[in-house]
Amino acid sequence: MITPVILAGGSGTRLWPLSRQQYPKQFLALEGERSLLQQTLARLDGLASTAPIVVGHEDHRFLVAEQLRREGVQAASLLLEPEGRNTAPAIALAALAACRDGHDPLLLVLPADHRIEDVATFHQAVHRARELAEQGYLVTFGVVPTHAETGYGYIQRGTPLGSQGFTVSRFVEKPAEATARHYVDSGEYDWNSGMFLFRASRYLAELEWWQPAMAHACQAAFLGAKPDLDFLRPDAETFLSCDNLSVDVAVMEWTAHAAVVPLEAGWSDIGSWLAVWESGAADQHGNRIRGDVMVESSHDLLVHADHRLVAALGVSDLTIIETGDAVLIADRHRSQEVKTLVARLEAEG
Ligand code: GDD
Ligand code: MG
Repeated sequence: MITPVILAGGSGTRLWPLSRQQYPKQFLALEGERSLLQQTLARLDGLASTAPIVVGHEDHRFLVAEQLRREGVQAASLLLEPEGRNTAPAIALAALAACRDGHDPLLLVLPADHRIEDVATFHQAVHRARELAEQGYLVTFGVVPTHAETGYGYIQRGTPLGSQGFTVSRFVEKPAEATARHYVDSGEYDWNSGMFLFRASRYLAELEWWQPAMAHACQAAFLGAKPDLDFLRPDAETFLSCDNLSVDVAVMEWTAHAAVVPLEAGWSDIGSWLAVWESGAADQHGNRIRGDVMVESSHDLLVHADHRLVAALGVSDLTIIETGDAVLIADRHRSQEVKTLVARLEAEG
C-alpha cells in the first residue's frame, strides 16, 4: 500500500512577485489551467495508492481544500502547521497520521510544486522504488544533472541494488557552486528530486535516531492534535519547538539506509524563474511570454504580464514579472537570488 504525502507548506519565494506568502507557487497555475498542487494530485492517478495526506500551512487551508475539491480528491488527512518548520517535521506528522489505526504504509512524499512531463515513466520509477522501500530503504529519486545548480541536493550513487537502483554513498544538500560543479563533472552524482518513498515507521525510526528532540516534539504535537471538520491541527506550541530542518539535512545526509532510483521523466522543480524559463515553449528568439506582452528586437526573455501590457525593446537575458503591486526585472541567470531580495524586503518591512 502506498500513501502519498503532499508537502504543500512552502513559501516559494524564488518565484516572487507572482508567488506570495498568502498565495505561494504550489497554488498557482504557471502553465495551463491547473495549479502545481492540482497537477501533483492528478499525477497519482493509476498509482495503486490510498487517499493522500496533505501537510500545509494554516493560512492556506481553504486554498488547499478548494484545490483538492476541484480535483475530486478527498484527503486521508489534511494536517495544518501553525507555521512551517520545514519538511522533516512535516513528514513526521504525515507518518504519524499514516500509522494511526495500526497501519504502516509506504509513504510517497511529493512536493506540491514540481512538474513531471512523463507520468508513465514516473510511475515505473515509483514501482522500482517500492521494491527497495519494502526492504527498508529510504528511497530518493535521482535526476541526471544538467548544470551546477546550487538549489538542489546531490546524491552520489553507490553500489547497484538489483536493477532497481543504487545505494547512496553520499548525500549533500545544496552544496556551494564549485562543489556542485565538481559533482556534475564527475558523472557520479544525481540531483535529488526531493521526492521520497519509505515506510512510515522507518522514517520515524530514523528521525528518532538522528533528531530525537524533533521526533519527540512531533509525537507530542500529533498526540495533542485537534481535529476540526476536515482539518487536523497539531499542538502549536509543541510543534513550533521543532528545529527548522529539511528532511534532506535532518535525515538523508546521515542515514546509512538511503537508496536512489534513477528518474528520467522530464522533472523540474520550477524552483526559480530560470526553471520556469527552461520548461516553457519559446519563440524563435528564445523569448517566453505570458499575458499581454510585446517583444521587439529582444531575445532570451521571460516575460509575465499579470495586470498590464508589458513591452520590451532591444533587451536580452532578462526575467520580467509584472503583477498588480510589484515588478521584478532581473538578470535571467541570477534567479536563485530572488530569494535574497525577498528576505531583504521582509526585513525592511
Ligand atoms: N508542509 C510543509 N511545511 N511543506 C513544506 C515546508 C513546511 O514547513 N517547507 C517546504 N515545504 C514543501 C514545499 O512547498 C515544497 O513542495 C517541498 O516541501 C520542498 O521544499 P522546498 O523548500 O521547495 O525545498 P527545496 O526545493 O529548497 O529543496 C528540496 O527539493 C530539491 C528539489 O526540488 C530538497 O529536497 C533538495 O535536496 C532537492 O534537490
Ligand atoms: Mg523546491
